[in-house]
Amino acid sequence: MSYIVIATSNAHKVQEYAKLIGDEKVELKSLLDYPGFPGVEENGATFAENAAIKALAACKYCDVPAFADDSGLEIAALDNRPGIYSARYAATDAERIARVLGEMEGVTDRRARFVCAIAIAINGEIIESFEGEIKGTIGFTPKGTNGFGYDPIFIPDGMTRSFAELTDAEKNAISHRHNAFVKAQEFVEDQMSVLDEDFN
Ligand code: IMP
Repeated sequence: MSYIVIATSNAHKVQEYAKLIGDEKVELKSLLDYPGFPGVEENGATFAENAAIKALAACKYCDVPAFADDSGLEIAALDNRPGIYSARYAATDAERIARVLGEMEGVTDRRARFVCAIAIAINGEIIESFEGEIKGTIGFTPKGTNGFGYDPIFIPDGMTRSFAELTDAEKNAISHRHNAFVKAQEFVEDQMSVLDEDFN
């Protein structure tokens, strides 16, 4: 069977994408299957650049088609911070949330969005990249225990519950990652005959 590598060693992410991809057409591998992968510095200026850096490095090292994602939270009143620094904004999820809530104290414009970029690399080149988003607002206190990261303070537009108060299925049906993935999936299905030649 043809296969594609996702450029991550995060087992949670691998599982999430395995569910999205299904296993009929293509088998998903990850950097967990390539323990010698030397790693790569995510020094891009945008989510798309970071996704491309990771996808290219994995494609070149594993010598098969690869894709990668990069995601984060952009808050309008904070000039889109934490943005590409979302994972590095503080040491733990709780501290990252506390930092954001501190910076948002007294701020009435609570608009924010989660963004996810996905890049696909084949034969050592980026062939396409996609972006998904979900818009919402930043709450005043953390709520809920599901999910991860900034979920307890992100309330999607049209809802009253935070991402961390939604079930996995509810979040996965509307998330930025899902929205980027759907675009990537449509592209891959359209191009399947071309990709098949490269896969084999
Ligand atoms: P990465 O895409 O794995 O580099 O993750 C970037 C960071 O953005 C994560 O560590 C989280 O802090 C944040 N983030 C990305 N997606 C989500 C989400 O769905 N919920 C909450 N936080 C997220």
